[in-house]
Amino acid sequence: MNTRSHYILKGGRVIDPSQGIDEVMDIGVANGVIVDPAEIKKPEIIDFTGKVVAPGFTDVHVHLRQPGNTGAETIATGTMAAAAGGFTGVVAMPNTKPCCDSAGTIELIRRESERNARVRVYTCGCLSKNMEGQEMAPIGGLKNAGVVALSDDGRCIQDHNLMRHVVAYAKSFGLPILDHCEDESLKGDGVMNEGKWSVFLGMEGIPNAAEELMVQRNIILARMVDWKLHIQHVSSRESVDMIRRARARGIQVTAEATPHHIALTDETIKRFDTNYKMNPPLRTEADRQSVIEGLRDGTITIIATDHAPHTRTQKEVEFDIAPFGIIGLETAIPVCLTELYHTGILSLSELIAKFTTGPADLLGLDIGTLRCGSHADITIIDPDLEFTYDVNESYSKARNTPFDGMKFKGRAIATVVRGNFVFGERES
Ligand code: DOR
Ligand code: ZN
Repeated sequence: MNTRSHYILKGGRVIDPSQGIDEVMDIGVANGVIVDPAEIKKPEIIDFTGKVVAPGFTDVHVHLRQPGNTGAETIATGTMAAAAGGFTGVVAMPNTKPCCDSAGTIELIRRESERNARVRVYTCGCLSKNMEGQEMAPIGGLKNAGVVALSDDGRCIQDHNLMRHVVAYAKSFGLPILDHCEDESLKGDGVMNEGKWSVFLGMEGIPNAAEELMVQRNIILARMVDWKLHIQHVSSRESVDMIRRARARGIQVTAEATPHHIALTDETIKRFDTNYKMNPPLRTEADRQSVIEGLRDGTITIIATDHAPHTRTQKEVEFDIAPFGIIGLETAIPVCLTELYHTGILSLSELIAKFTTGPADLLGLDIGTLRCGSHADITIIDPDLEFTYDVNESYSKARNTPFDGMKFKGRAIATVVRGNFVFGERES
């Protein structure tokens, strides 16, 4: 990690949605903080002419697998992949082993991150004890331990009354809830989207309604308690419509979309490749288009990866029994630039907002800005760099991606955390 302390990033196109900036200008960094370049005496000049200089990107949905499944990923490898993908911070999902339902586990992740994380790691506590959906987790203790949000990701509390009380507790501690919306009885033994392709392939389907029921339940509870409820990895057309209507009425509901739901559909399952198996599943083209429309019209304010590493032995089995999930930290920016920016759907500023101001607003953290005095967390992008993604060059321990061998246009070329280059040419 390079620990140069005073420098100027020169000549880049600075795009900072938090300040409404999109212009060629210089950014000064001194002692890990953004400063006016004129204030730096004898600065080192780092030229980024022709590149985009943006506030550090945060991924609000990442599985780092530590503690419990360090064969698939560790805090060190997952955050290195995050740095290589252009992320300066990640929210670590709590479905570790043990899960994050105690202050002790949060403390363990915090200490391990202090020692080995390449980027910032924000912890997320569980909603329920052991993620069993039966009893509330000790939310006050988790807050004291430093969590920035609560989630049972991978599971969804089925008991509406318990969820109601969890939302109320979360509100009293000022913690947003990130919910994996899934009705377990409708999901049943489903392994892919329920529709034409599941019938054709003879596989058990997961209907859109499994997600939609819980999205609607959450909208009702967010209204009732008047608190922040964030819908993770929205995948269905009806969910997007419900979220749009709720937001128009001032209900505190936000949503994220993943790069895979932006780029892929359930037709890909015909390859029987478990790298296309995730939860929620890839849906139809109509669903995909609705997710994109939700991003375009501001219904969906965040893009998050659901980076879900699994070992080869776990994933290289028949489709039916493989675990859900794919890695995504290093492909998120390339997929989104290719699918959303180069297609004219989002401007660069709109796209950058989904990774900066979107997460900052949800988490209530002072991140995602290049304002003078802020931490120098910076993502530098070459939006026109064409390359073929090779998963064997990934920093993640895992290899479970559907994007291996695909061509993309645009990627992060350097990542700066607290003023230090943690990825890119100048990293050391
Ligand atoms: O695909 C998924 N993988 N979805 C989830 O909700 C959980 C995640 C995991 O932990 O592997
Ligand atoms: Zn999930």
